[in-house]
Amino acid sequence: MPRPLVATIDLAALQANLALARKAQPTSKIWAVVKANAYGHGLESAMKGFADADGLSLLEWDAAIRLREAGWTKPILMLEGAFDAADLKIADQYGLQIVVHHDEQLIMLKDNASSLSAPLDVHIKINTGMNRLGFTVDRVQSVYAALRALSCVGKISFMTHFANAENNQAVLNAAKQYQLFSSAIKGLDGEISVANSAGVLFHKEMKADWIRPGVMLYGASPSSDDAVAFGLLPAMTLQSRIIAIQNLQAGDCIGYGSVFKADKPTRVGVIACGYADGYPRHARAGTPVLVDGHRVPLIGRVSMDMLTVDISALSHVQVGAQVILWGEGLPIDEVAAASDTIAYELMCAITPRVVRAVKK
Ligand SMILES: Cc1ncc(COP(=O)(O)O)c(C=O)c1O
Repeated sequence: MPRPLVATIDLAALQANLALARKAQPTSKIWAVVKANAYGHGLESAMKGFADADGLSLLEWDAAIRLREAGWTKPILMLEGAFDAADLKIADQYGLQIVVHHDEQLIMLKDNASSLSAPLDVHIKINTGMNRLGFTVDRVQSVYAALRALSCVGKISFMTHFANAENNQAVLNAAKQYQLFSSAIKGLDGEISVANSAGVLFHKEMKADWIRPGVMLYGASPSSDDAVAFGLLPAMTLQSRIIAIQNLQAGDCIGYGSVFKADKPTRVGVIACGYADGYPRHARAGTPVLVDGHRVPLIGRVSMDMLTVDISALSHVQVGAQVILWGEGLPIDEVAAASDTIAYELMCAITPRVVRAVKK
């Protein structure tokens, strides 16, 4: 008997969220971002759910190969480019587009030009203030010229990444980054992509050939706004069951560290889900959990395989009752906020021992 903990991926929700991104930026093509195992949702599900995307983007080379082998024939963009020369051969063999974000990658291309069977399409990553990856704005023209001179380079595109697209008041806001980006590529020919989910939702004025939404496609919000307000649907529902019930007396404690001490008789539901499944250990007391459709608060410390909730208000609930940790009826953003993190981290943290199911 498997544990009753299941992450169900809703393909229709993936499709609907993609359609919503398309509607938000109707003139742009979409690179659906599927890195980190499609934000924990599984590559195969993402491939089906995002069948209408114009391309998929990610950074794991083995995963890109899997996408091709599973039948994805549209473009694939490698967001961090080649880590070594062998990756260029993979790009060549599987028809993958690559980001070039620093000089080492330029040199790698130059040194391996003769071993490639066809020109590779490259995306120059421009650092407009995020200061992680990319050429500084003043280098872009010369990098473009260097790439253009290589026979192993095909189409050249341009991209940057926003640090604060959800917050116009930020010191480095999207308008400033977009303006730097535009000035860097002045006079150069090529397609551009700039917007992550927050850019897609909050900066419709920033027209680009492509958008690169990630988290919104999985039904979570890229900001503190409610995902439901954008019309996004949860693509992952993490479900389990109550596997034991404890009746505490006043003064009794529960779990490791005895951090919860009952001040009155308390009925406690023990749920099969813990931090070894990806549920955050630092989830605060009071984090909402749905038991048989009712919201109840988390109590006590989340342990490796179990967590506990106060079901005193639910006298009808028995062992075996259905539990939703996040997803349909309980936004993942809410659970993330109660755990001092973001939905991105919760989705990506689901561990391999959690059974996956697909809702078609
Ligand atoms: C280069 C790049 N583009 C797009 C995205 C998608 O971002 P989001 O999930 O916020 O939409 C990411 C994710 O971090 C990224 O690294």
